[in-house]
Amino acid sequence: MIHYDEKRRIFHLSAAGMSYVIGIAEGQLQGLYFGKAIAAADPTNMIRTGEHSSFDMDVRVERAEYPCFDGHSFCEPCLKIETDRARHAFFTYHGYTVTQEPFGEKLSITLKDEQSRAEIELIYKLYEAYGLLERSAVIHAKAELELHSALSACVNLPADRSYHMRYLTGRWGGEFQINDCAVGTGVFAIQSKRGTTSAHFNPCIALCTPEATEENGSVWFGALGYSGNWAIKVEQTIFGNTHILAGINDSDFRWKMQAGDMLQLPPFYIGFTDGGFGEMSRCMHRFENACILPKRPLRRVLYNSWEATAFHVVVEKQMRLADKAAAMGCELFVLDDGWFGKRDNDRAGLGDWTVHTGKFPHGLSELIDHVNRCGMDFGIWLEPEAVNPDSDLYRAHPDWIYRYADHEPLQARNQYVLNITLPEVQTYLLDSITTLLKAHHITYIKWDMNRAITDMDGRGEETPQSLWHKHVQALYRIWAYIRSEFPNVELETCSGGGGRIDLGIFRYADQCWTSDNTDPYDRLFIQEGYTQFYPPSAMMCWVTDTHRSEHGDKEQWGHRDLTYRFHSAMCGGLGIGSDIDLFHQEELDMCRTLITQYKEIRETVQEGDLYRLLSPRGSCTAAVEYVSQNKNEAVTFVFQQSQPLFQPQHRLLRLQGLDPAAHYRLMDEHTVHSGNDLMEIGLPIDLHGEMKSRMIHLVKV
Ligand code: DGJ
Repeated sequence: MIHYDEKRRIFHLSAAGMSYVIGIAEGQLQGLYFGKAIAAADPTNMIRTGEHSSFDMDVRVERAEYPCFDGHSFCEPCLKIETDRARHAFFTYHGYTVTQEPFGEKLSITLKDEQSRAEIELIYKLYEAYGLLERSAVIHAKAELELHSALSACVNLPADRSYHMRYLTGRWGGEFQINDCAVGTGVFAIQSKRGTTSAHFNPCIALCTPEATEENGSVWFGALGYSGNWAIKVEQTIFGNTHILAGINDSDFRWKMQAGDMLQLPPFYIGFTDGGFGEMSRCMHRFENACILPKRPLRRVLYNSWEATAFHVVVEKQMRLADKAAAMGCELFVLDDGWFGKRDNDRAGLGDWTVHTGKFPHGLSELIDHVNRCGMDFGIWLEPEAVNPDSDLYRAHPDWIYRYADHEPLQARNQYVLNITLPEVQTYLLDSITTLLKAHHITYIKWDMNRAITDMDGRGEETPQSLWHKHVQALYRIWAYIRSEFPNVELETCSGGGGRIDLGIFRYADQCWTSDNTDPYDRLFIQEGYTQFYPPSAMMCWVTDTHRSEHGDKEQWGHRDLTYRFHSAMCGGLGIGSDIDLFHQEELDMCRTLITQYKEIRETVQEGDLYRLLSPRGSCTAAVEYVSQNKNEAVTFVFQQSQPLFQPQHRLLRLQGLDPAAHYRLMDEHTVHSGNDLMEIGLPIDLHGEMKSRMIHLVKV
């Protein structure tokens, strides 16, 4: 709900236990309050006093709702505008409107600046049932101007408090690592300058009270919906004001606008909970499943042949894999890299999106028809943004890549990046994809991007806008086109694993490839980090034969841990990547049993509430529980890495989120337990030895 108090000039936005309050003082917007729901806001208690000394002339600006560079204040700005008349801007409040949107009310506040004649529309969209607020801004040019910085939002947190923060770091093969630390005075930034979201930091942040845990404590959190160069800054001033700024990274950013142009900035979704990090994640997951991700059925169990065959794609072997995948219950067969052009290794063929005639002498349909006859859907891998120098495409169009004049562009994984902002490149890609999808029965695309973007040079452009941002706009346009033209084709976002996972791409992507690291133990850490902000419903996890793909040397896991490997992968959308052609019948039977079990519980895993019961960090036992929204079912996976030395053999695991008044049947033991006892007393973990795991499935009686 949005309420405007005309007399006190206060906007009060509220949703599911959260309040967000903005005040207008002397034409300036101030972020007055954000946190646990409050009844009525008293601005006199919240607006901070003005002058401190001749070195801090107006402390109130530290709580600016959308700070703009004006040459008079000293905090990090959201916006910096230059015109031929001025390098500063003084935006003042001009008016507001409230409209109804599908998930709640939307407030638009207009700010105007006389010098630049620009207008800012600050946008606040409430997702009322989910307690989430979407912040963004639209910049309207009324005369020629250049933006040097344009962040989406500044979010002021309650003043005079100590905060800790949580954010995610990573790299290829080791995404989504959790970092916790104290917020100190100064400016702290996480960001990407790699042209994509990147695995190095993820555009999400949580600030919390120092004592916050998985189950308790106040947490203010935010996730940026953007897949290019981004930045999130946390600034704490010496006067006890703390704010979070988020948006497009201003590194190498210039955006030229003419009168009549507008620039929509990416959404920053924010929320508050006093239920700790666990409740933060559940809030985000419910919101993402309902409001961000495309509407679609449950994730299909997929088989992907990449780990089994890499570039050695031979149609007979793919068919054998398909036979075995179908027999064990897979629903989607994915042909990964290596099916096109002269793609026999990663040095050639990228960019040539026609079927490799040597590998598929009778065309791709021979395999697709076989897969369909086995009862599975067919999916395919593409990496449309990149090109090998050794490709027909590059030979014909060496000018289609990003490059600086007179400078050899950087190759990474033997590839360049296509300038997809060029209309002719977009046409080529859309035509290639359209031809492929029209000629074949394909229902899924894994869209990969295997390098960081470099060599962006916008100087030759007629209007030297930021190519970095235009690349993201072009990417979203292409994805939106595929979604609308081919509504039955599902999209997976992949960038060498989890390098492009964010709430921008999730508006188009049905699922993501979480990491190239498919080690089931490492995955527990990656999945714990991923699920802080993103939903299990989109998190693809494969059972493979590889132990850490980190250095490319693939060690075999052996047979004993198949159940462990499965249980780790059953925590999200299940996939199989093993060379099942080499599996013995006994292993194939085991796979079939486990896939059948997964299908019975996948709705609870993908659409239920997640409780991270035991973290793998600092413990040899980890456990995650999923509870269906109606609390009728719960599934818990327990993993024991090694036998605990000082812990009792019959350690109890206390569950969460159940109906305390209900009784639940433990499916593998046929015993019945009260929901209350399961949460207060718990169940024996009952695992012995190393690398052991267990699935506990409870159904309400
Ligand atoms: C990186 C992806 O993450 C892998 O799963 C695989 O698709 C390779 N690229 C193919 O080149």
